[in-house]
Amino acid sequence: MKVQVGIIGGGPSGLLLSQLLHLKGIDTVVLEKHSREYVLGRIRAGVLEHGFAELMREAQCGERMDREGEIHEGFFIAHDGVKDRVDLHKYTGGNSVVVYGQTELTRDLYDAREKAGGKVIHNAENVQPHDIDSDAPYLTYREGDETRRIDCDYIIGADGFHGVSRKSIPKDVLREYEKVYPFGWLGMLSRTKPVSPELIYAKHERGFALCSLRSQVLSRYYIQVPLTDTVEDWSDDAFWDELKRRLPAEVAEGLITGPSIEKSIAPLRSFVAEPMRYGNMFLAGDAAHIVPPTGARGLNSAASDIYYLYHALVDHYQKGDDAGLDNYSAKALARVWKAQRFSWWMTTLLHTFPDKIPYDQRLQQTDLEYLLSSDAAMASLAENYVGLPF
Ligand code: APR
Ligand code: PHB
Repeated sequence: MKVQVGIIGGGPSGLLLSQLLHLKGIDTVVLEKHSREYVLGRIRAGVLEHGFAELMREAQCGERMDREGEIHEGFFIAHDGVKDRVDLHKYTGGNSVVVYGQTELTRDLYDAREKAGGKVIHNAENVQPHDIDSDAPYLTYREGDETRRIDCDYIIGADGFHGVSRKSIPKDVLREYEKVYPFGWLGMLSRTKPVSPELIYAKHERGFALCSLRSQVLSRYYIQVPLTDTVEDWSDDAFWDELKRRLPAEVAEGLITGPSIEKSIAPLRSFVAEPMRYGNMFLAGDAAHIVPPTGARGLNSAASDIYYLYHALVDHYQKGDDAGLDNYSAKALARVWKAQRFSWWMTTLLHTFPDKIPYDQRLQQTDLEYLLSSDAAMASLAENYVGLPF
């Protein structure tokens, strides 16, 4: 088989790029290691910045998002028994975010690819990129006993943090930057009415908590836990009790509890790999960078990579202009690092660090007091949360 663009990974990054390119007449194949059901079984974040929502519409995948997603013009920061609102709309001159689950968004992308007859190969085993530093790169994968080959002009590594693409870049070329936080988030999904129509990020000495939602009948809550905890350590009752302790009394009283549908623990990590291009292979999304979930930047950072790659590939195929491809790594990384900075800042502001010295504790308190008393600081938070321009 020969295609113009071979994409490794059928997560949101790979699928969105494949769909956008298809609409411009550019031929792609997506090789995904797992089944569609497996990919759709993963519960991930759910806050989309405005630019991402626009990209979904451009991909003709925005219909259900616009119908079922919720536009949020603000969120709350809870601390010291009270909650303060961050007015995104006011501080960004009318901007907002869309609350719509990554699972639903991925489902919409799969449906669109299927409807368009797109080539998405599931359960592709042992996917390998070859000759990526040549003009004739190709992919191989195993299907049963057969090894299949796909020749391409370009390979896109959109295969997530544990994928094979990044590992194919020579060690003396690749630079990796990493920060591991000394805690994780225990997340729980429950078919209950959310405690607040807008998200609440809660700073508490017992640890951070987040009240989020997927719809007005489906809640998503998180609590900060030590890395040594396991899901089995947390019964539903223990989770609800701990969540309540970390919320202002007035919020905790209104919390509707119920059985969990899903519970999982995610460690918090920041990671960036540079460069995001090697030869004719380009990295995108989690394959190149990870953020802690505090600022809801993970999926949105993936979307900005796809925005740049999409335009660069269209310029190449339609105008013979390679400037976008040549600048991709530098341009994508500039925005990636800003998302890293914001996620690190919000994580540092709101979490309880086990080994924090008293001086750092006072600084953390002061950071919050400054934020809540300064229009300039609020505007900085708001412009980052709704997403910096592409
Ligand atoms: N071969 C083929 N596919 C692979 C391989 C491989 N060797 N390794 C991983 N994959 C697949 C995974 O099964 C997964 O479906 O690549 C996909 C990568 O998807 P994600 O991890 O979701 O990454 P991405 O598409 O970049 O999505 C952005 O932002 O909010 C964050 O982590 C969140 O998933 C989200 C991400
Ligand atoms: C979520 O709903 O899963 C979510 C929302 C906001 C975040 C992180 C996760 O910052």
